[in-house]
Amino acid sequence: MALESGKGPSRRFARVHGVIERRALVFVLAILGVISVGGLVEIAPLFALENTVERVSGVRPYTPLELAGRSVYLREGCYTCHSQQIRPFRDEVERYGAYSLAAESVYDHPFQWGSKRTGPDLARVGGRYSDAWHVQHLNDPRSVVPASIMPAYAFLGRTPLNPDLMAAHLVANRRAGVPYDEAMVTNAAADLRAQADPDADSSGLLSRYPRAVSRNFDGQAALTEMDALVAYLQVLGTMAEFDWRRPDPTMLR
Ligand code: HEC
Repeated sequence: MALESGKGPSRRFARVHGVIERRALVFVLAILGVISVGGLVEIAPLFALENTVERVSGVRPYTPLELAGRSVYLREGCYTCHSQQIRPFRDEVERYGAYSLAAESVYDHPFQWGSKRTGPDLARVGGRYSDAWHVQHLNDPRSVVPASIMPAYAFLGRTPLNPDLMAAHLVANRRAGVPYDEAMVTNAAADLRAQADPDADSSGLLSRYPRAVSRNFDGQAALTEMDALVAYLQVLGTMAEFDWRRPDPTMLR
């Protein structure tokens, strides 16, 4: 062979190569060595970074009511038909708004990215429809979109929401890295009630969750899971402070 008949370095290389190639274990170890160097070069620097996600102003942890809505969203499996990730493709940006930034789902545990879209992407559905539209659509999707195949969720408006469970939810999210402080945990139930009641004093809620909107989301007196789900849908994609109607999210307001 050309290599073996060569001189100097190429001959030495051929000998080493011969040794490695003939011993399966040595060959496996050599492969592992090469792969782990490649892996370390990629992974090791990440441990030295404090934050791997660029920060975007305006993005805050979910309020207790929004978080309760998010739990309903996960429990009902809305994610099996809806993603929350606008990809940087022209058709998606024109249909849904600016493509999603990683920073916008930094407090989502688990995140709702994906491309499984039986229904439209919901990453920026907040503010697109009125609360009443959402309630009507969730009660009976075909009454507003005749060709819809989305299931009805009318029972949510009849299912009471228990504010006292929220403190534990906040603590669980804190363990996953969401910066809920003691005041937020202590006031979780009160903040939830304040956000669902337009007549309540929402100053505490607003000091803890800037720009949180309080109103009667489901339009009926009782505090229900419908209130929570609509509050959650209405905040989606609205936190980051850039004009999402423009195609490029780097165009800050
Ligand atoms: C079987 C699949 C399926 C499931 C499950 C599902 N949806 Fe939908 N959804 C759709 C389809 C299809 C549409 C488009 C037609 C329509 O507007 O009803 C839609 C539309 C929507 C829209 C309007 C979006 C827009 O931009 O017009 C919202 C909001 C929505 N769904 C929320 C939810 C929520 C919340 C849940 C869980 C409680 C859910 N969906 C569960 C299929 C689904």
